[in-house]
Amino acid sequence: MKKWWKEAVVYQIYTKSFYDTNGDGIGDLRGIIEKLDYIQALGTTVIWLNPIYSSPDVDNGYDIADYQSIDERYGTLEDFKELLAEAHKRGIRLIMDMVLNHTSDEHMWFQESRKSKDNPYRDFYIWRPAKDGKEPNNWGNYFYEGKGSAWEYDESTGEYYLHNYSKKMPDLNWDNPRLKEAMCQMMRWWLDLGVDGFRMDAVNRLVKPKGLPDSPNPPTPPVGIYGYVVDRTMCANCPGIHQLLHELNQEVFGRYDIMVVGETGNVDAAIAIDYVKEERQEIDMVFHFEIAKNPVLKTAAQIKEIQRRWYHVVEQHGWITQYLSNHDTPRQVSWFGDDETYRYESATMLALMTHTHPGTVYIYQGEEIGMTNVDFPSIDYYNEKYTVGKYHTMVESGVDPETALNSLKKTSRDNDRTPVQWNSREHGGFTTGTPWINANPNYKEINVEKEEQAERSVLRFYRTLTAMRREHPVMVYGSYEQILEDHPELIIYKREYQGEAWLVICNFYGREQIMPKEALKELEKGDARLLLGNYQGGETTERIRPYEARIYRCR
Ligand code: GLC
Ligand code: CA
Repeated sequence: MKKWWKEAVVYQIYTKSFYDTNGDGIGDLRGIIEKLDYIQALGTTVIWLNPIYSSPDVDNGYDIADYQSIDERYGTLEDFKELLAEAHKRGIRLIMDMVLNHTSDEHMWFQESRKSKDNPYRDFYIWRPAKDGKEPNNWGNYFYEGKGSAWEYDESTGEYYLHNYSKKMPDLNWDNPRLKEAMCQMMRWWLDLGVDGFRMDAVNRLVKPKGLPDSPNPPTPPVGIYGYVVDRTMCANCPGIHQLLHELNQEVFGRYDIMVVGETGNVDAAIAIDYVKEERQEIDMVFHFEIAKNPVLKTAAQIKEIQRRWYHVVEQHGWITQYLSNHDTPRQVSWFGDDETYRYESATMLALMTHTHPGTVYIYQGEEIGMTNVDFPSIDYYNEKYTVGKYHTMVESGVDPETALNSLKKTSRDNDRTPVQWNSREHGGFTTGTPWINANPNYKEINVEKEEQAERSVLRFYRTLTAMRREHPVMVYGSYEQILEDHPELIIYKREYQGEAWLVICNFYGREQIMPKEALKELEKGDARLLLGNYQGGETTERIRPYEARIYRCR
């Protein structure tokens, strides 16, 4: 079925690092308003905002203290309404990040909850007494915080509360109907304001396993020295989650013309279909972690295998997402491409590949100018919880600090959180003050202004791709069939829709390839012509250059 959100190209904005208008070093909503024309010119049709609610900011806003107010560092509710109106004026929709798994410990609900066992908000969270004088189970928190347990003892009532993430982010209890009702009301409030949907944080973890059993797995190093198990499967896809999402759909999502995308770690295509199959009325699509945010770099062969499996979700009347990076991953050109010799070629190849696969496309801010990973000299420059927490646990358990830092650099989430590089002025023109996190020192070479001026630029290539999506429904609704599934370096596939047929060829590596005869055969069938390529001329049907990517129209 045709839907606006299938056709969308979403631009993800991490407000804190986007653009600062008042010199406090923190990006803000007015900064987004100022850059709306840029976003529109990029051809993106939806903005996804990372959390901008009031928050003590221990996890960059994912620790929400008040769901219905804007954090003052980002602006006011008036600014937000203006942003929404200005975006809508330009034909751009806006979705909010919705964090329902936990709140900040500074949320009023938790403040009440911890007061006494009979407080009306007690059951908004998950409290348990000690077991044999210890934590209620062996779960470790995902942030490797403190001694590693996912339970924090609270003196006021002598019980532990569950926090899968930071101890300042207590997990909510979705078995409680009052919590559910409060959340539904809150979400309807945003939708009534005019927002166009949600990106649902950790949404497959809302329901916990019955009885909160121990993880059967061995303790996780380096936290293992304390004996806790960081096991993200424990709370993923537990019985009851589908019923809950269906209820949220009936109570909220299904009543509006919106899009809902769930962030779902520990989900493969076979599991995903139950979340996104149209007739089930849960959510519209999910972000899986099989390609991006996987600590192991995927090969071309693996990516093809993953894409084939996920395409079955589309065939079974579900929908999928295409993205290679977000605020939780390294920069895609550094991770999958070559950010030195072939920065332009690999950044554009990755873009072409993402935009020509079936699914809604997501661009993470800065990706469109080929921003790269950062190489900070010491841990003091890093900010995000996984990196800092893991670093300290490693050093404490005897790992040499330099080794610890080097092992974390490549995958740190801060790679994606450095400020957007607008021009070659100080801090990349992000702020006139001191940025909350240092800019990548390469801002003089890589920035929006330069990309605008250059004839051959990553930014221009992105604009071409988004424009093509508006003209060629085959990019959205076309069938998808790989050829040469086993080719270890090339990713080649056909897309077909209503008489239009494409052949897409991506060289996933920095080595030149021979054009396979199977691809040639496809090209010879019709009168194939090149629609788009990331080299300027010199295409031959004999060879494919490093990171070269081409779209041929065969019919
Ligand atoms: C999601 C967010 C991540 C955050 C975590 C806890 O994974 O993307 O940034 O740290 O949830 O809310
Ligand atoms: Ca600011």
